Amino acid sequence: MAEQGMRLDRLLAASGYGSRNDVKKLIRNGLVSVDGITVRNADLKVRPDTQEIRVDDQPVVYEKYHYFMLNKPAGCISATSGSGPTVLDLIDEPYRDLFPCGRLDKDTEGLLLITDDGPLAHELLSPRHHVEKEYEVRLRDPFEPGYTAVFAAGMTMADGTVFQPARLIQTGEKACRIILQEGKFHEIKRMFLAAGNEVVSLRRIRMKNLELDESLAPGEYRKLTEEETAGLRALLR
Ligand code: URA
Repeated sequence: MAEQGMRLDRLLAASGYGSRNDVKKLIRNGLVSVDGITVRNADLKVRPDTQEIRVDDQPVVYEKYHYFMLNKPAGCISATSGSGPTVLDLIDEPYRDLFPCGRLDKDTEGLLLITDDGPLAHELLSPRHHVEKEYEVRLRDPFEPGYTAVFAAGMTMADGTVFQPARLIQTGEKACRIILQEGKFHEIKRMFLAAGNEVVSLRRIRMKNLELDESLAPGEYRKLTEEETAGLRALLR
């Protein structure tokens, strides 16, 4: 896109300056300049990598995609819309195409990537890549040593659903961590039910090499660092 140039109104809308109509108004009102010259046509093709674009004399920082780490609280759903609060209600950003990369149950907390990078999300969620997801689990009943081998062998449910092998690390009398390479509906809860126990709480702490920032309280989010983004984007290579 950047090679052939990009429509000025599209670039400004993608950079958080409002809807296409909002940015057309900015342009019409003479607030937008390209390489020091005020421009009036919204469909002008610009190259954000080599041209200096300013709005109200402030340089526009163009980023094609945006990446945020949310510490999802219990009680909101991992969707862009629905009945009740969604994870996007917690994200106060001007970018319009953000969505949660994957789903956590309504009562699950922890790491959720919020992005508008469709190709990257597709790869992260693709079973082809076996992207690791790690969760902290609290159980109703004590953790039994036999679980480790049972989960490591994978499980087939009565309805035919197959859960791939998962790694368990006991962390307390009724607590463990689990590392999965897939993300089927209610997977962890269903595996523990099949083992005769029950999940009391679930919190995701890692996806691939992206670790939950423990300084984020439930409901808080922050932008990914360049290093974190690069770690995830390595999948696309
Ligand atoms: N497994 C579950 O059961 N729930 C989640 O939210 C994630 C994995």
